[in-house]
Amino acid sequence: MAEKLRIGVLASGGGTNLQSIIDGCQAGSINAEIVTVISNNPSSGALIRASNAGVMTQCIDHRSFEKRDDFDSEVVAALKENNVQLVVLAGFMRIIGQRFLDAFPNRIMNIHPALLPSFPGLHVQQKALDYGARFAGCTVHFVDGGVDTGPIIAQAVVPVLDNDTDESLSARILVQEHKIYPQAIEWFAQGALSITGRKVIVSAQVQDSTQELINPPLDH
Ligand code: GAR
Repeated sequence: MAEKLRIGVLASGGGTNLQSIIDGCQAGSINAEIVTVISNNPSSGALIRASNAGVMTQCIDHRSFEKRDDFDSEVVAALKENNVQLVVLAGFMRIIGQRFLDAFPNRIMNIHPALLPSFPGLHVQQKALDYGARFAGCTVHFVDGGVDTGPIIAQAVVPVLDNDTDESLSARILVQEHKIYPQAIEWFAQGALSITGRKVIVSAQVQDSTQELINPPLDH
């Protein structure tokens, strides 16, 4: 088996995506080792989850830095010190600056709880509800200089139900996040992802379904 990919996870919140990646690494379904978990938020649940799993944690509070570049430099230094090969943003609520991008070209992934390019930014599950979208979902993508604009690796779609709330829709999307993010990381670890322009090709992946999704369902 190939050597394990060294990943650094950046998280700001509860850390359920981090947990799915920890679980995947432990189960061997992701051929990777989380070498550090960095949070900008001292009370992030992600830090607790990482400690519980015996993963090294670092808290780099963005509020201690006057300039975003200085915060970015500190995070990049911490990642480089640990020889991180792939940076995984898992609910990391800071924008990545150009210096950070240049330090890890095509080596930063993000998960976003919407079907990009619809609804980039924040509070996107509520935005999908307010818009009256019939489908919502999540997207794993490489990070580029825009907000949620980078090349798309994988997406999962869920229906929006008439009685959905922000909480119920977010929870339905989160279940899918926990499936597609570990898979995308494993593809990266296998060297199966190649980027051409905006397109990501997943090698050896046979797309055998052309099944359409319609919501609400048709009468017949
Ligand atoms: C997830 O829904 C993730 O997609 C979202 O934050 C949540 C983090 O949950 N990320 C973004 O909105 C990024 N802009 P978690 O801390 O339980 O993984």
